[in-house]
Amino acid sequence: MHLDQKVSLKALNTFGMEAEARYFVEAKTHSEVLTLLNYRHMIHMPILFMGGGSNVLLTRDFSGIVIRISSKGITVKEETATHVFVTAEAGENWDEFVQHCVASGWAGLENLSLIPGRLGAAPIQNIGAYGVEVRDVIDSVQIIEIDSGKQKRFTNAECQFGYRDSIFKRALKGKVIILNVTFKLLKISPSDQGSILKLDYGDIRSELQALNVTVPTIADVREAVCNIRRRKLPDPAEIGNAGSFFKNPVVNSELATSLRHNFPEIPVYPQAASTGPVKIPAAWLIDQCGWKGYRDGDAGVHVNQPLVLVNYGSATGRQILDLANRISDSVHQKFGIRLEIEVNVV
Ligand code: EPU
Repeated sequence: MHLDQKVSLKALNTFGMEAEARYFVEAKTHSEVLTLLNYRHMIHMPILFMGGGSNVLLTRDFSGIVIRISSKGITVKEETATHVFVTAEAGENWDEFVQHCVASGWAGLENLSLIPGRLGAAPIQNIGAYGVEVRDVIDSVQIIEIDSGKQKRFTNAECQFGYRDSIFKRALKGKVIILNVTFKLLKISPSDQGSILKLDYGDIRSELQALNVTVPTIADVREAVCNIRRRKLPDPAEIGNAGSFFKNPVVNSELATSLRHNFPEIPVYPQAASTGPVKIPAAWLIDQCGWKGYRDGDAGVHVNQPLVLVNYGSATGRQILDLANRISDSVHQKFGIRLEIEVNVV
């Protein structure tokens, strides 16, 4: 392992924020992670664990050690007549893993295609897109406790998944490192795929139609999702961003009723119960406040998807955060809703 000093993190976060790590090291195996944890007890320095850097906003230099988990490996643990249990290491690229599963004929992850980042981050914020959340297919998550160096396997229920949420963002924040994740995916023949695919979210069906697909396979769904994402979301390789900057707010039924009265066109996400709390697209709220396409220096609001804040080149983390606060204040003033930041602000 190489411990480098004064390392620029610019190329290691998809927002493209300039920030310097006092020390930087890459851990490629579980035993390297353990070695680093032991070393940590000797040096008493703050540690920041990074994966693909696709859900983080760096607002300052980091005066400790940045550890990047780069372990690789995909292993089939168990196969039944209907399912496959596949374990993948935290350092795997998320979309390459999805592609591997689709090519192997394992269903469940295709709607989560083209999400940037590394696999180990997926359970932390319970990534979700196009009607699927990763919790739907996670069997278990293997972690290591930072303080004790002990390993533990969390079952799906123990991960306490919620909307863009898990125990790893709350009680266990900064206390564990995710080593690998085991997924339970469905083995299906191409002829059976139509019945289990999730096609009801947004533009998936119309995209499949545009692709001239009548009986879709998991590979078709992946292609449709990739096309939609490429059209709507900025490619971090071209414009710095970390995906949705805020969560979609969930409001109580009282506020929902008064919002519907004042803004009859307000969209809501369909909920299981027709009464009770409802989820509202933050993109709509931000759009209504006139922010779509806004730009102040190199900090901006994306032209196609106002939930995504962008760095056109040399914006700082503080400038993005300042813009986020202005957006949040205006949404609060107009709709009485406080937006919650979804990315990890460091
Ligand atoms: N909308 C507008 N104006 C716009 C764009 C959207 O008013 O310019 C409204 C429309 O009503 C639209 C609604 O916002 O129907 C929802 O937009 P979209 O389908 O793009 O989804 P989203 O709720 O904004 C969520 C996830 C995305 C995920 C998409 C697709 C969160 C925080 N974000 O966005 O996830 O890709 O659904 O499933 O839940 C991410 O987490 O980084 C991310 C990109």
